[in-house]
Amino acid sequence: MRKTSASSIRAAAELLRAGGLVVFPTETVYGLGARAFDPAAVRRIFRVKERPADNPLIVHVADEKQLARVVRRVPPLARRLMNAFWPGPLTLILEKAPDVPPAVTAGQRTVAVRMPDHPAALSLLRTLGEPIAAPSANRSGRPSPTTAAHALKDLRGRVAVILDGGPCRNGLESAIVDARGRRPVLLRPGAITAAAITNRAGIPVAAPGRDSPAAPGARRRHYAPSCRVILVAPALLRRGRVTGLGLPGSGLVHRSPWKGRRPAFARRLRGAVAAYARGLFSALRDAESAGASTLFVETVPDRGVGRAVMDRLRRAALLLESPDGRTRGLGLG
Ligand code: TXA
Ligand code: MG
Repeated sequence: MRKTSASSIRAAAELLRAGGLVVFPTETVYGLGARAFDPAAVRRIFRVKERPADNPLIVHVADEKQLARVVRRVPPLARRLMNAFWPGPLTLILEKAPDVPPAVTAGQRTVAVRMPDHPAALSLLRTLGEPIAAPSANRSGRPSPTTAAHALKDLRGRVAVILDGGPCRNGLESAIVDARGRRPVLLRPGAITAAAITNRAGIPVAAPGRDSPAAPGARRRHYAPSCRVILVAPALLRRGRVTGLGLPGSGLVHRSPWKGRRPAFARRLRGAVAAYARGLFSALRDAESAGASTLFVETVPDRGVGRAVMDRLRRAALLLESPDGRTRGLGLG
Protein backbone atom coordinates (compact mmCIF):
# COMPACT_ATOMS: atom_id res chain seq x y z
CA MET A 1 0.00 0.00 0.00
CA ARG A 2 1.26 3.45 -0.90
CA LYS A 3 1.18 5.99 1.92
CA THR A 4 -0.79 9.14 1.24
CA SER A 5 0.79 12.29 2.72
CA ALA A 6 -0.96 14.30 5.42
CA SER A 7 -0.76 17.43 3.27
CA SER A 8 -2.51 15.78 0.31
CA ILE A 9 -5.26 14.54 2.65
CA ARG A 10 -5.68 18.08 4.01
CA ALA A 11 -5.87 19.51 0.49
CA ALA A 12 -8.42 16.88 -0.52
CA ALA A 13 -10.58 17.61 2.54
CA GLU A 14 -10.38 21.32 1.72
CA LEU A 15 -11.60 20.65 -1.80
CA LEU A 16 -14.52 18.54 -0.50
CA ARG A 17 -15.45 21.33 1.90
CA ALA A 18 -15.55 23.72 -1.07
CA GLY A 19 -17.97 21.44 -2.92
CA GLY A 20 -15.41 19.59 -5.06
CA LEU A 21 -14.93 15.91 -5.83
CA VAL A 22 -12.02 13.71 -4.75
CA VAL A 23 -10.98 10.23 -5.86
CA PHE A 24 -9.69 8.25 -2.88
CA PRO A 25 -8.53 4.67 -2.25
CA THR A 26 -10.44 2.16 -0.14
CA GLU A 27 -9.69 -1.48 0.66
CA THR A 28 -12.17 -2.56 -2.06
CA VAL A 29 -11.94 -0.18 -5.05
CA TYR A 30 -11.31 3.56 -5.55
CA GLY A 31 -14.22 5.86 -4.71
CA LEU A 32 -15.32 9.19 -6.22
CA GLY A 33 -16.30 11.24 -3.18
CA ALA A 34 -18.28 14.34 -2.33
CA ARG A 35 -19.53 15.73 0.98
CA ALA A 36 -22.67 13.66 1.57
CA PHE A 37 -24.56 16.68 2.89
CA ASP A 38 -23.79 18.86 -0.14
CA PRO A 39 -26.51 18.04 -2.70
CA ALA A 40 -24.88 20.08 -5.49
CA ALA A 41 -21.59 18.21 -5.07
CA VAL A 42 -23.42 14.89 -4.96
CA ARG A 43 -25.22 15.73 -8.19
CA ARG A 44 -21.84 16.49 -9.75
CA ILE A 45 -20.78 12.88 -8.99
CA PHE A 46 -23.63 11.64 -11.19
CA ARG A 47 -22.62 13.96 -14.03
CA VAL A 48 -18.92 13.14 -13.84
CA LYS A 49 -19.58 9.37 -13.83
CA GLU A 50 -22.48 9.62 -16.27
CA ARG A 51 -24.41 7.59 -13.71
CA PRO A 52 -28.20 7.21 -13.95
CA ALA A 53 -29.81 9.37 -11.25
CA ASP A 54 -31.89 6.44 -9.94
CA ASN A 55 -28.79 4.59 -8.72
CA PRO A 56 -28.08 5.63 -5.11
CA LEU A 57 -24.61 6.13 -3.57
CA ILE A 58 -22.85 4.55 -0.61
CA VAL A 59 -22.12 6.92 2.28
CA HIS A 60 -18.75 6.38 3.96
CA VAL A 61 -18.24 7.12 7.66
CA ALA A 62 -15.24 7.00 10.02
CA ASP A 63 -16.96 6.78 13.39
CA GLU A 64 -20.16 6.53 15.37
CA LYS A 65 -20.80 10.27 15.24
CA GLN A 66 -20.71 10.35 11.47
CA LEU A 67 -22.90 7.23 11.34
CA ALA A 68 -25.49 8.93 13.55
CA ARG A 69 -25.84 11.74 10.98
CA VAL A 70 -26.63 9.25 8.20
CA VAL A 71 -29.04 6.67 9.67
CA ARG A 72 -32.20 7.01 11.74
CA ARG A 73 -31.34 4.15 14.01
CA VAL A 74 -29.10 1.12 14.25
CA PRO A 75 -31.16 -2.07 14.74
CA PRO A 76 -29.57 -4.96 16.69
CA LEU A 77 -28.68 -6.99 13.59
CA ALA A 78 -26.90 -4.01 12.03
CA ARG A 79 -25.00 -3.41 15.26
CA ARG A 80 -23.84 -7.00 15.32
CA LEU A 81 -22.62 -6.81 11.73
CA MET A 82 -20.86 -3.50 12.33
CA ASN A 83 -19.10 -4.91 15.38
CA ALA A 84 -17.97 -7.91 13.36
CA PHE A 85 -16.93 -6.28 10.09
CA TRP A 86 -16.36 -2.53 10.43
CA PRO A 87 -14.13 -1.04 9.33
CA GLY A 88 -14.35 -3.34 6.32
CA PRO A 89 -15.96 -4.23 2.99
CA LEU A 90 -19.55 -4.56 4.22
CA THR A 91 -22.20 -1.99 3.25
CA LEU A 92 -25.41 -1.91 5.26
CA ILE A 93 -28.79 -0.70 4.04
CA LEU A 94 -30.58 1.14 6.85
CA GLU A 95 -33.32 3.71 7.27
CA LYS A 96 -31.90 7.09 6.34
CA ALA A 97 -31.72 10.08 8.66
CA PRO A 98 -34.09 12.86 7.55
CA ASP A 99 -31.27 15.24 6.51
CA VAL A 100 -29.53 12.91 4.05
CA PRO A 101 -30.11 14.59 0.67
CA PRO A 102 -32.40 12.70 -1.74
CA ALA A 103 -29.64 13.01 -4.37
CA VAL A 104 -27.56 10.52 -2.32
CA THR A 105 -30.29 7.92 -1.91
CA ALA A 106 -32.00 8.48 -5.27
CA GLY A 107 -35.10 9.46 -3.35
CA GLN A 108 -35.31 6.20 -1.35
CA ARG A 109 -36.05 6.08 2.38
CA THR A 110 -33.04 3.85 2.92
CA VAL A 111 -29.35 4.66 2.79
CA ALA A 112 -26.28 2.51 2.09
CA VAL A 113 -23.48 3.07 4.61
CA ARG A 114 -20.07 1.61 5.30
CA MET A 115 -16.85 2.28 7.23
CA PRO A 116 -13.91 1.64 4.88
CA ASP A 117 -10.81 -0.16 6.15
CA HIS A 118 -8.17 1.99 4.54
CA PRO A 119 -5.94 4.52 6.34
CA ALA A 120 -6.21 7.18 3.60
CA ALA A 121 -10.01 6.88 3.41
CA LEU A 122 -10.40 7.02 7.20
CA SER A 123 -7.98 9.90 7.48
CA LEU A 124 -9.85 11.84 4.76
CA LEU A 125 -13.17 11.24 6.56
CA ARG A 126 -11.71 12.34 9.91
CA THR A 127 -10.02 15.42 8.47
CA LEU A 128 -13.23 16.47 6.75
CA GLY A 129 -15.18 15.56 9.90
CA GLU A 130 -18.22 14.52 7.86
CA PRO A 131 -19.60 11.55 5.91
CA ILE A 132 -18.54 11.18 2.25
CA ALA A 133 -20.87 9.87 -0.44
CA ALA A 134 -18.88 7.85 -2.97
CA PRO A 135 -19.61 5.38 -5.74
CA SER A 136 -16.76 3.52 -7.42
CA ALA A 137 -14.57 5.98 -9.36
CA ASN A 138 -15.22 4.58 -12.84
CA ARG A 139 -17.39 5.89 -15.63
CA SER A 140 -20.76 4.22 -15.26
CA GLY A 141 -20.81 0.67 -16.60
CA ARG A 142 -17.02 0.18 -16.62
CA PRO A 143 -14.92 -2.03 -14.36
CA SER A 144 -14.33 -0.44 -10.95
CA PRO A 145 -10.87 1.13 -10.60
CA THR A 146 -8.42 -0.72 -8.38
CA THR A 147 -5.54 1.70 -8.98
CA ALA A 148 -5.28 5.48 -9.19
CA ALA A 149 -4.29 5.15 -12.86
CA HIS A 150 -7.59 3.37 -13.66
CA ALA A 151 -9.58 6.18 -12.06
CA LEU A 152 -7.53 8.74 -13.99
CA LYS A 153 -8.18 6.92 -17.26
CA ASP A 154 -11.96 7.17 -16.77
CA LEU A 155 -12.15 10.59 -15.13
CA ARG A 156 -9.28 12.61 -16.62
CA GLY A 157 -10.22 16.29 -16.83
CA ARG A 158 -13.31 15.67 -14.67
CA VAL A 159 -11.74 15.57 -11.20
CA ALA A 160 -9.04 17.76 -9.71
CA VAL A 161 -7.65 15.45 -7.02
CA ILE A 162 -6.85 11.74 -7.03
CA LEU A 163 -5.29 10.35 -3.85
CA ASP A 164 -3.01 7.47 -4.81
CA GLY A 165 -2.95 4.66 -2.25
CA GLY A 166 -1.55 2.01 -4.59
CA PRO A 167 -3.51 -1.08 -5.68
CA CYS A 168 -6.63 -1.95 -3.64
CA ARG A 169 -6.35 -4.93 -1.28
CA ASN A 170 -9.64 -6.65 -2.24
CA GLY A 171 -10.16 -5.50 -5.81
CA LEU A 172 -13.92 -6.16 -5.61
CA GLU A 173 -16.62 -3.93 -4.17
CA SER A 174 -18.14 -4.35 -0.73
CA ALA A 175 -20.93 -6.82 -0.02
CA ILE A 176 -24.28 -5.04 0.41
CA VAL A 177 -26.66 -6.29 3.09
CA ASP A 178 -30.10 -5.01 4.02
CA ALA A 179 -29.81 -4.99 7.81
CA ARG A 180 -33.15 -3.43 8.76
CA GLY A 181 -34.96 -6.63 9.56
CA ARG A 182 -34.26 -9.73 11.64
CA ARG A 183 -32.37 -11.50 8.89
CA PRO A 184 -29.53 -10.11 6.79
CA VAL A 185 -30.53 -9.92 3.12
CA LEU A 186 -27.64 -10.05 0.66
CA LEU A 187 -28.24 -7.55 -2.14
CA ARG A 188 -24.75 -7.67 -3.68
CA PRO A 189 -22.16 -10.39 -3.03
CA GLY A 190 -18.76 -8.91 -2.31
CA ALA A 191 -15.40 -9.10 -0.66
CA ILE A 192 -17.02 -10.50 2.53
CA THR A 193 -18.68 -13.85 1.88
CA ALA A 194 -22.27 -14.83 2.70
CA ALA A 195 -20.89 -17.61 4.92
CA ALA A 196 -18.86 -15.11 6.95
CA ILE A 197 -21.92 -12.88 7.36
CA THR A 198 -24.09 -15.84 8.38
CA ASN A 199 -21.50 -16.91 10.95
CA ARG A 200 -21.16 -13.53 12.56
CA ALA A 201 -24.85 -12.63 12.43
CA GLY A 202 -25.79 -16.00 13.89
CA ILE A 203 -28.66 -16.13 11.36
CA PRO A 204 -28.48 -17.37 7.77
CA VAL A 205 -28.22 -14.73 5.08
CA ALA A 206 -31.38 -14.52 3.01
CA ALA A 207 -31.65 -13.93 -0.71
CA PRO A 208 -33.48 -10.77 -1.75
CA GLY A 209 -37.25 -11.22 -1.62
CA ARG A 210 -40.07 -9.29 -3.20
CA ASP A 211 -40.05 -6.65 -0.45
CA SER A 212 -36.27 -6.20 -0.48
CA PRO A 213 -35.00 -2.89 -1.76
CA ALA A 214 -33.41 -3.11 -5.17
CA ALA A 215 -29.70 -2.36 -5.45
CA PRO A 216 -30.31 -0.67 -8.79
CA GLY A 217 -26.64 -0.81 -9.68
CA ALA A 218 -26.78 -4.60 -9.51
CA ARG A 219 -29.40 -4.87 -12.25
CA ARG A 220 -27.52 -3.49 -15.18
CA ARG A 221 -24.78 -4.62 -17.49
CA HIS A 222 -21.77 -3.41 -15.66
CA TYR A 223 -18.07 -3.84 -15.02
CA ALA A 224 -17.49 -4.14 -18.74
CA PRO A 225 -14.35 -3.20 -20.61
CA SER A 226 -14.76 -2.05 -24.20
CA CYS A 227 -13.88 -5.51 -25.55
CA ARG A 228 -16.34 -8.36 -25.93
CA VAL A 229 -16.07 -10.62 -22.87
CA ILE A 230 -16.63 -14.38 -23.19
CA LEU A 231 -16.64 -16.59 -20.11
CA VAL A 232 -14.90 -19.96 -20.34
CA ALA A 233 -14.84 -22.87 -17.91
CA PRO A 234 -11.42 -24.11 -16.71
CA ALA A 235 -12.00 -27.55 -18.25
CA LEU A 236 -12.37 -26.04 -21.71
CA LEU A 237 -9.08 -24.18 -21.38
CA ARG A 238 -7.26 -27.25 -20.13
CA ARG A 239 -8.54 -29.31 -23.02
CA GLY A 240 -7.66 -26.64 -25.56
CA ARG A 241 -11.29 -26.36 -26.62
CA VAL A 242 -11.58 -22.60 -26.75
CA THR A 243 -11.91 -21.68 -30.37
CA GLY A 244 -10.83 -18.18 -31.25
CA LEU A 245 -7.98 -17.92 -28.77
CA GLY A 246 -5.32 -17.55 -31.43
CA LEU A 247 -7.21 -15.03 -33.54
CA PRO A 248 -5.94 -11.45 -33.83
CA GLY A 249 -7.30 -9.23 -31.10
CA SER A 250 -7.99 -12.12 -28.73
CA GLY A 251 -7.16 -11.96 -25.04
CA LEU A 252 -7.24 -14.33 -22.10
CA VAL A 253 -7.56 -13.80 -18.34
CA HIS A 254 -7.11 -17.09 -16.54
CA ARG A 255 -5.97 -19.13 -13.53
CA SER A 256 -5.59 -22.56 -15.14
CA PRO A 257 -2.99 -23.62 -17.67
CA TRP A 258 -4.38 -23.77 -21.19
CA LYS A 259 -3.64 -25.62 -24.38
CA GLY A 260 -3.70 -24.13 -27.81
CA ARG A 261 -2.55 -21.02 -29.54
CA ARG A 262 -1.28 -18.02 -27.66
CA PRO A 263 -3.67 -15.07 -27.61
CA ALA A 264 -2.39 -11.56 -28.29
CA PHE A 265 -2.93 -10.66 -24.62
CA ALA A 266 -2.72 -13.08 -21.71
CA ARG A 267 -2.84 -12.47 -17.97
CA ARG A 268 -2.55 -15.36 -15.56
CA LEU A 269 -3.75 -14.68 -12.02
CA ARG A 270 -2.35 -17.53 -9.97
CA GLY A 271 -3.39 -18.75 -6.56
CA ALA A 272 -6.58 -18.57 -4.57
CA VAL A 273 -9.87 -17.16 -5.86
CA ALA A 274 -9.22 -14.09 -3.68
CA ALA A 275 -6.12 -13.37 -5.76
CA TYR A 276 -8.21 -13.71 -8.92
CA ALA A 277 -10.72 -11.28 -7.44
CA ARG A 278 -7.94 -8.82 -6.59
CA GLY A 279 -6.48 -8.79 -10.08
CA LEU A 280 -9.61 -9.20 -12.18
CA PHE A 281 -10.73 -5.62 -12.86
CA SER A 282 -7.14 -4.62 -13.49
CA ALA A 283 -6.73 -7.47 -15.99
CA LEU A 284 -9.93 -6.45 -17.82
CA ARG A 285 -8.64 -2.92 -18.17
CA ASP A 286 -5.14 -4.02 -19.21
CA ALA A 287 -6.60 -6.29 -21.90
CA GLU A 288 -8.58 -3.35 -23.22
CA SER A 289 -5.48 -1.10 -23.21
CA ALA A 290 -3.53 -3.83 -25.04
CA GLY A 291 -6.10 -3.61 -27.83
CA ALA A 292 -7.95 -6.88 -27.22
CA SER A 293 -11.30 -6.96 -28.99
CA THR A 294 -12.46 -10.38 -27.74
CA LEU A 295 -11.50 -11.33 -24.22
CA PHE A 296 -11.89 -14.86 -22.88
CA VAL A 297 -12.15 -14.89 -19.09
CA GLU A 298 -11.94 -18.06 -17.01
CA THR A 299 -14.81 -18.68 -14.61
CA VAL A 300 -14.37 -19.70 -10.95
CA PRO A 301 -16.60 -21.84 -8.70
CA ASP A 302 -19.70 -19.87 -7.74
CA ARG A 303 -19.16 -19.92 -3.96
CA GLY A 304 -17.34 -17.90 -1.30
CA VAL A 305 -15.54 -14.94 -2.86
CA GLY A 306 -16.09 -16.73 -6.18
CA ARG A 307 -19.73 -15.78 -5.95
CA ALA A 308 -18.87 -12.09 -6.09
CA VAL A 309 -16.37 -12.73 -8.89
CA MET A 310 -19.00 -14.58 -10.95
CA ASP A 311 -21.59 -11.90 -10.23
CA ARG A 312 -19.26 -9.28 -11.74
CA LEU A 313 -18.18 -11.53 -14.63
CA ARG A 314 -21.74 -12.32 -15.68
CA ARG A 315 -22.48 -8.64 -15.89
CA ALA A 316 -19.26 -7.88 -17.77
CA ALA A 317 -19.87 -10.66 -20.28
CA LEU A 318 -22.33 -11.00 -23.06
CA LEU A 319 -21.35 -14.50 -24.03
CA LEU A 320 -20.62 -17.85 -22.50
CA GLU A 321 -18.54 -20.51 -24.24
CA SER A 322 -20.45 -23.76 -23.78
CA PRO A 323 -18.87 -27.23 -23.56
CA ASP A 324 -19.62 -27.98 -27.21
CA GLY A 325 -17.36 -25.07 -28.13
CA ARG A 326 -20.23 -22.89 -29.36
CA THR A 327 -20.77 -19.51 -27.78
CA ARG A 328 -24.22 -18.52 -26.66
CA GLY A 329 -25.63 -15.26 -25.37
CA LEU A 330 -26.22 -14.76 -21.69
CA GLY A 331 -29.08 -12.48 -22.44
CA LEU A 332 -27.91 -9.61 -20.30
CA GLY A 333 -29.17 -6.18 -21.22
O1 TXA B 1 -16.71 -1.20 -2.14
C1 TXA B 1 -17.59 -0.42 -2.44
O2 TXA B 1 -18.76 -0.58 -2.08
C2 TXA B 1 -17.19 0.83 -3.27
C3 TXA B 1 -16.27 1.71 -2.42
C4 TXA B 1 -15.91 3.00 -3.11
O3 TXA B 1 -16.87 1.95 -1.18
N1 TXA B 1 -18.34 1.56 -3.68
C5 TXA B 1 -19.19 1.09 -4.64
O4 TXA B 1 -20.19 1.99 -4.97
O5 TXA B 1 -19.08 0.01 -5.17
P1 TXA B 1 -21.13 1.84 -6.24
O6 TXA B 1 -21.88 3.10 -6.31
O7 TXA B 1 -20.30 1.48 -7.40
O8 TXA B 1 -22.12 0.71 -5.85
C6 TXA B 1 -23.10 0.98 -4.88
C7 TXA B 1 -24.22 0.02 -4.98
C8 TXA B 1 -25.08 0.22 -6.20
O9 TXA B 1 -25.39 -1.05 -6.76
C9 TXA B 1 -26.34 0.86 -5.63
O10 TXA B 1 -27.47 0.56 -6.38
C10 TXA B 1 -26.40 0.24 -4.24
O11 TXA B 1 -25.06 0.21 -3.84
N2 TXA B 1 -27.16 1.08 -3.28
C11 TXA B 1 -26.84 2.30 -2.81
N3 TXA B 1 -27.79 2.76 -1.98
C12 TXA B 1 -28.73 1.81 -1.90
C13 TXA B 1 -29.98 1.68 -1.21
N4 TXA B 1 -30.45 2.65 -0.43
N5 TXA B 1 -30.69 0.54 -1.38
C14 TXA B 1 -30.23 -0.44 -2.18
N6 TXA B 1 -29.05 -0.38 -2.86
C15 TXA B 1 -28.33 0.72 -2.73
MG1 MG C 1 -19.79 0.99 -9.19
